[in-house]
Amino acid sequence: MLGRLNHVAIAVPDIAAASERYRTVLGATVTAPEALPEHGVTVVFVELANTKTELLEPLGKDSPIAAFLAKNPSGGIHHMCYEVEDIIASRDALRASGARVLGDGQPRIGAHGKPVLFLHPKDFDGTLIELEQA
Ligand code: CO
Repeated sequence: MLGRLNHVAIAVPDIAAASERYRTVLGATVTAPEALPEHGVTVVFVELANTKTELLEPLGKDSPIAAFLAKNPSGGIHHMCYEVEDIIASRDALRASGARVLGDGQPRIGAHGKPVLFLHPKDFDGTLIELEQA
């Protein structure tokens, strides 16, 4: 089911400061910030040769990463995103195996304009998993 690693996401309290750190200290290429109000986050991508790192800052008062940052005030790894070929077929197979899909189970459009779903971390070794249709 799983294809390539699309990105690893890190929740950060200050996306401007984090972006600047990746640019200057780590010498990486970082995209311009993009606000995703329907996901409650602002994102940038650190572009790497083989994958991406996604930096996430809370947007709005109901941000899904607010509680994570309250627990991890300096930030931390938030989720892994794997590519799948067919997100509906993957969702249905995961549900059939007993895994929990977050929300109403309907894919939403993610930061790359492609459908995404999230899987419950308790079903996957304490790791929040995002699936993105490649
Ligand atoms: Co992501």
